[in-house]
Amino acid sequence: MQGVLKQLKDHSPLDYEALGALLKEIDFATVYYESLLPNISSSDTYSRNILTLNPIEVVLIHWPTNVSSAVHRHDGFWGYVAVLSGSCENVEYLYKEGVISEIHRMQFLKGGLIPEPDGTLHKMYNPSGEESLVTAHFYYPPLENMDNMVIYNLENQRIGTLNDKASTASWSEPDEHFKSIQENAFKFVPGKI
Ligand SMILES: [Fe+2]
Repeated sequence: MQGVLKQLKDHSPLDYEALGALLKEIDFATVYYESLLPNISSSDTYSRNILTLNPIEVVLIHWPTNVSSAVHRHDGFWGYVAVLSGSCENVEYLYKEGVISEIHRMQFLKGGLIPEPDGTLHKMYNPSGEESLVTAHFYYPPLENMDNMVIYNLENQRIGTLNDKASTASWSEPDEHFKSIQENAFKFVPGKI
């Protein structure tokens, strides 16, 4: 992983396409990350270890079995996610005229690279009930915390805006880590359109 961080420094500044081209050349199935891996602190949510914020953010995420991020929007930030161990399901949604519907779903295995363009509305999760998942996230601009991140709860139609105390994009954050929570905020149409 130290080699990856050095390459990113040497090639900055990078735009979305250039970052993708650089990351596609790296064999993430063989990157050494074990000594940097954050311990799983709760079986309900993922644990993060920010490796650097310069020139882009690189964060390692350790996902317990069957754990999901909340559905969240990339508003002004973009990047990629590399799967280092396990498998990762990425589900993309469309939010149009007050209705959220699923538009795309794909599973990525060890070594896979998941694009997260600006404006995307999605969630990621570990679909395995046996194996934990390890991912490396590359984001620009760097986010030190989840301040102003907007997350969606499809089960109860809530929209939450997190504050700077939140460290995960997830509904398991306590109430004091939210700036606001909006009830009955949208309609969700299950199933892919
Ligand atoms: Fe994301």
